[in-house]
Amino acid sequence: MKKTLFFILSLTALVLLSACGNTTPTVERIPEAELREFTLEELSQYDGLDGRQAYIAVNGFVYDVSDSARWRGGSHNGFRAGADLTEEIQGVSPHGTRVLDNIPRIGRLIEE
Ligand code: HEM
Repeated sequence: MKKTLFFILSLTALVLLSACGNTTPTVERIPEAELREFTLEELSQYDGLDGRQAYIAVNGFVYDVSDSARWRGGSHNGFRAGADLTEEIQGVSPHGTRVLDNIPRIGRLIEE
């Protein structure tokens, strides 16, 4: 009886642990070599205002948040699209970068 209980508890712990560590993107990813290149200046045009697309950059990649309800109008909890938000998502947001797994990655950030 004790052994069965131990087995079930171990199995539950294993399932929970593997779920926590799962960072596999849930949206299709374009291969890196095929990603469009953006300078910060180009990125700034995609601010989600006046019907424009809303793009954000994190860790050198550009993500399209135009279809996200949480980024309606290009803004999310006081942050604006069209910018590199690497430091903000890592340092200020409660969720960190895991939320990007559900967001289309459309480009790469390059030097001006
Ligand atoms: C005070 C700061 C912030 C708060 C309180 C906040 C809160 C939230 C919450 C509650 C969600 C829902 C999903 C979840 O928690 O798992 C979310 C989603 C998200 N957040 Fe934030 N966030 C903050 C800052 C940021 C920043 C700086 C970024 C920059 C990239 C960001 C990007 C996102 C993205 C991409 C999603 C996913 C949207 C979707 O799946 O449609 N957040 N945020």
